[in-house]
Amino acid sequence: MSPAHAALLQALEAVVGPAGLVRDAAVLPAYLSDWRDAYRGRALVVVRPASTAEVATVVRLCHAAKIPLVPQGGNTGLCGGSIPDASGTQVVISLTRLRAIRAIDPANDTITVEAGVILRSLQEAAAQVGRLFPLSLGAEGSCTVGGNLATNAGGTAVLRYGNMRDLTLGLEVVLADGRIWDGLRGLRKDNTGYDLKQLFIGSEGTLGIITAAVLKLYPAIRSLTTAWVALSSPQAAVALLERMKAECGDRLSAFELMSRQSVQFVLDHVPGCRDPFQETHPWYLLIELSDTRADAPLPAHLEQALGEAMEQGEILDAVVAANETQTAALWALREGISEAQNHEGPSLKHDISVPVSSIPAFIEVADRHLLEAFPGVRIVSYGHVGDGNLHYNISKPPGSSDATFKAQAEAIMHLIYGVTQTFAGSISAEHGLGQAKREAARHYKTPLELELMRTLKRALDPTGLMNPGKVFAEDPEFDESLIKGQARP
Ligand code: FAD
Ligand code: MLT
Ligand code: ZN
Repeated sequence: MSPAHAALLQALEAVVGPAGLVRDAAVLPAYLSDWRDAYRGRALVVVRPASTAEVATVVRLCHAAKIPLVPQGGNTGLCGGSIPDASGTQVVISLTRLRAIRAIDPANDTITVEAGVILRSLQEAAAQVGRLFPLSLGAEGSCTVGGNLATNAGGTAVLRYGNMRDLTLGLEVVLADGRIWDGLRGLRKDNTGYDLKQLFIGSEGTLGIITAAVLKLYPAIRSLTTAWVALSSPQAAVALLERMKAECGDRLSAFELMSRQSVQFVLDHVPGCRDPFQETHPWYLLIELSDTRADAPLPAHLEQALGEAMEQGEILDAVVAANETQTAALWALREGISEAQNHEGPSLKHDISVPVSSIPAFIEVADRHLLEAFPGVRIVSYGHVGDGNLHYNISKPPGSSDATFKAQAEAIMHLIYGVTQTFAGSISAEHGLGQAKREAARHYKTPLELELMRTLKRALDPTGLMNPGKVFAEDPEFDESLIKGQARP
């Protein structure tokens, strides 16, 4: 290690204490590769500050030494955004020790939390005061509020409550030079110029480090009912969505579509899961109604709406969960898909969105073109269809090698993104760009959009030390060479 690096490590240790630097070789790998082990990196050090003041000092020290920083929360991101590059010269700054719930204001329906709070702990803290924090996703037991904000996370409740951007009122951010921006306001109305917090939400650690947030709370849910529905086509799912919105209004809180292939992987690989129906069907929906009243007649309401859909031939079969165990079993079928697909070799993830009305045509066109060009690949399409968001993931043909499949990954991606583009869609609905999609973004965002993004990046991070190599593809104009040159003393 160079003397300059050694001096930085010493200075960092003086700030965070020995417990704030990760040195244990058994623990370190967890910070240096992602959940799927799709990305691996090396770090100069992993530092774990325990307060906003410590984060600010760490950033100031790294800024002075021209050392790049990679913010990391629960490391559940699906685009490699929290993983350092292979150089071993970047500092991973883990926010998981910032886990205080600073304040709850039930009358204002707000909660102020630090970035390292686990999403499930936040949901539990809200429940303790009779409120709901609605963001919900498969990784909620390990992802953090900071990561949710930095990726503008979505999940299964966006249909009713919106994504993380919609759930946020204020932020505290350590800027690239170490100054602290205190924007922790719990205001639903504030038109004093640009909405700065929205710049940092979804910026994937490339503009600053989020250390705390004021988030919106909602009335607690006191009754809930869940159904598993079989359908013949995505067209039928979109028709049912229209019906359910008209019949159930705001009570409709989840509407998740899954292909048979997706469910089959769960049945094959996740212990304890079983098919709710005797027969197999091409498509399934998980539908949830919820209400703030304990006595809301939700099962009757759902059964009536599904009965009418059945009479109209819109659905093939349906089962309504009779108790919490059955509800959990239905959700396990949905939430198990990501993990199950990992058992089938590399999964090519395409987190696309199109207008809800275009979902059936997107699936028809993308399936057709894909199977023509890459016979035998398995299409694992599922997702938050109520938001127009499909996880159009691909697994290799049975029996083929990982290497052959990986060699086709880019062509498969361009085929899928090309179809997405024809439907005026997005190549990343909720997972972000990270390092996985930074090159693709260059193709599928307009030059003007990219120019505006770079303008903001340069304004907020002029030395390019905040999570370099993420979101943006290599840019010869950007003075990263200068930074790299200075970064390695
Ligand atoms: P990390 O993975 O640690 O980081 C993600 C990005 O945020 C990185 O770029 C990192 O640099 C940056 N970052 C992290 N913390 C900060 C901070 N404090 N300040 C600035 N930047 C920061 N996502 C969805 O949107 N919807 C889903 O339904 C969904 N389901 C998932 C299911 C599974 C099984 C898994 C494994 C993941 C799923 N995800 C989903 C993806 C992931 O959980 C989310 O992106 C989540 O928001 C990431 O949070 P994290 O704390 O793990 O962040
Ligand atoms: C999900 O909704 O399950 C995840 O966002 C999708 C994924 O893991 O690809
Ligand atoms: Zn998702």
